[in-house]
Amino acid sequence: MSETPPVTDRIREAYAPENLRLLGHRLVDVLAEHLDGVEQSRGRVLNWNDPAENRVVASDRLDAPKNAALVEAFERAAATVLSRGQNLHDPRYVGHQVPAPVPLAGLFDAIGSVTNQVMAIYEMGPFVSAVEEVLVERLGARIGYQPGTFAGFATHGGSLANLTALLTARNVLLGDSYEAGVPSKGPRPVIVSHAEAHYCISRSAGILGLGTNQVVKAELDDRRRIDPQRLDETLGRLRAENVPIVAVAAGACATPIGAFDPLNDLADVCERHKVWLHVDAAHGGAALFSQTHRHLLDGLQRADSLIWDAHKMLFVPALCAFVFYRDREHRFRAFHQDAPYLFDPSAPELIEADSGLKTIECTKRAAALPLWGVWSLFGPELFGDLVDRTFALGRAFHQKLQAADDFEPLHEPECNIVAFRHRPERLQHATPAEVGSFQLELRKRVIRSGAYYLVPTSKDGTGALRVTLINPLTTPDHLDGLLATLREEGERLLDGR
Ligand SMILES: Cc1ncc(COP(=O)(O)O)c(C=O)c1O
Repeated sequence: MSETPPVTDRIREAYAPENLRLLGHRLVDVLAEHLDGVEQSRGRVLNWNDPAENRVVASDRLDAPKNAALVEAFERAAATVLSRGQNLHDPRYVGHQVPAPVPLAGLFDAIGSVTNQVMAIYEMGPFVSAVEEVLVERLGARIGYQPGTFAGFATHGGSLANLTALLTARNVLLGDSYEAGVPSKGPRPVIVSHAEAHYCISRSAGILGLGTNQVVKAELDDRRRIDPQRLDETLGRLRAENVPIVAVAAGACATPIGAFDPLNDLADVCERHKVWLHVDAAHGGAALFSQTHRHLLDGLQRADSLIWDAHKMLFVPALCAFVFYRDREHRFRAFHQDAPYLFDPSAPELIEADSGLKTIECTKRAAALPLWGVWSLFGPELFGDLVDRTFALGRAFHQKLQAADDFEPLHEPECNIVAFRHRPERLQHATPAEVGSFQLELRKRVIRSGAYYLVPTSKDGTGALRVTLINPLTTPDHLDGLLATLREEGERLLDGR
């Protein structure tokens, strides 16, 4: 018989609660000091370093001698991470749709991670499974569902959420496609998608065996929302050609400029053609918490499926996204699994609580715990406050762009996403290509300087700039500062050309 190796000193040290206490106390101080500085903009927004340089530092840390005191080694490691990262809590962060999360949410994440409360089956994380179910009920009520009629669950991000919902739509339409695959004979099935949907919709079509070429772009109106009349025509044409339509994938809102589709009108059209309506409300779902903005989602409850990212506008850390089905009967239609080593056939009453039957993930982190924690501390009103504040910043920024001769807003914002261009006098006679490349070059300079963080986009094939105001500590003064920074850096860029 082979001998069992002993519990080494190393193992003991790694598992000692005393070490957790020591380092945990220190970590809270380090994080609070860091956050204080970041929220006051005392450093750079993005700590830009080349990927190769960061790899060297990360690699060196792995090879650092292991004889240093644990606290010191930990402090050094934490300081390295914090000094080289992206500072979302800096009010000058106006970049991707990734929020400055409520810092206290992270403490609930810590409870889940330190004790590794996972899901797949109820027994592995009984309380966090209940947390998720309760949040599904509460969010479902916000959507406007009647209790007991709908279903939902959390998953690891919006892309996975869209994939799961569209998989369900495919299975419902094509019967045994989960087992038999997508039929290769006859007209090939399509997804009709918002023309500017997030790429994960077309990626889903690829993964689902439909093919990315089978995504039909729904035509948009002048505010870049799906035009219901033209959607009606598209669905009518596809029906006349006997093309199976897996779903219409609408946006609430679409990524590029935050355009909210007219959901009631789209639901009417989909009902008329008996087509599954899916709504990607990854970003905009949170508007349901705002008295002022919830009208943007009128009709959402009529969608057959929808997704909603809590790690966007509910201001919790990644990853936490929800999938909802209007019809509760659809909750097990994505997958059919026979796994006696996991799902206990002698406990059929747990089928609703075993999340792995509904999700792509088997092991799933306690994704909803931070949201539950924040909600339990501050109540749902906090989410309304955050939406109202950040959407108002979107409008304020738009007004500033309109008031400036050398900036051009590219649309009227419906939320906290604003796309625009800087058009200094010196670019008056520049070609669209020159104007576009100027935006992208300018952004690169600004973000690498650490002064602000914003993102690139394009409109009509020409480069542009885009902000998402997703830090409630950003003020109108910071937005003035952004314009001033773009002007100054733009001057330098043009001088150097
Ligand atoms: C509308 C929309 N859907 C889906 C996604 C993808 O979500 P995730 O990054 O959580 O996978 C995004 C990301 O920004 C998005 O804007």
